[in-house]
Amino acid sequence: MRTKIVAGNWKMNKNLEETEALLGELAAKLPDTKAEVIVSPTFVNLASAVNQLSQSVIQVAAQNMHFAESGAFTGEISADMLLNIEVDTVILGHSERRALFDENDELLSKKVNTALDKNMKVIFCFGEELEDRKSGNHFNIVENQLKNVLFDLDSSSWKQIVLAYEPVWAIGTGETASPEQAQEMHAFIRKTIATAFNGSIAENVTILYGGSVKPNNAKEIFSKPDVDGGLIGGASLKCDDFMEIVKAI
Ligand code: G3P
Repeated sequence: MRTKIVAGNWKMNKNLEETEALLGELAAKLPDTKAEVIVSPTFVNLASAVNQLSQSVIQVAAQNMHFAESGAFTGEISADMLLNIEVDTVILGHSERRALFDENDELLSKKVNTALDKNMKVIFCFGEELEDRKSGNHFNIVENQLKNVLFDLDSSSWKQIVLAYEPVWAIGTGETASPEQAQEMHAFIRKTIATAFNGSIAENVTILYGGSVKPNNAKEIFSKPDVDGGLIGGASLKCDDFMEIVKAI
């Protein structure tokens, strides 16, 4: 049985007081669920979030990390710094970091390998641009994004990997992929992993969908056989919306 996950990527939102207020609401209103629920506040609020959720099942993830142990990397955060505050899950490869901060496959491979070496859980993001889909190249793009970063991993590493398919044209746009589009790509991803590794790894890897998931579309998207949950942006910043999405899984 694959792990179901609903994760909230808060991006660059909410100061300390706003973070504490939302986490307090989420912890109080979290429904019974078979899914793992993860929130990802900004770096400056991670330690406070971990402390505040110490008695909750809600997990805390970082939105990024550097691959180096330590050193002259102004503004960066290392894996050990995250582990030191009991954050052992990290989102890597988000399209905004690829586009705005030039994160390419080579850099992402270093980050993923560092996180895996530190026994962290990696939520690896990937997805095509609108022009890729319009030209029918979206499967190639996704396959290469997976291959270039994940296909040299040992089979044993896959138990630490969560995949997040996020079509860039659906992120923050309100233009959600249809449930059928999500299912088609998730099934392709699973088949691609089965070919590169084996059926067991492919069958057991959690594949999240991200891109304008909202309370009114989550249930249908999550009902698809190869969709194991969602990576939620805007809707994760509002307690009631995020709770409705958790209830949908
Ligand atoms: O990482 C999740 C995020 O990119 C999706 O954002 O606002 O479309 O749910 P949003």
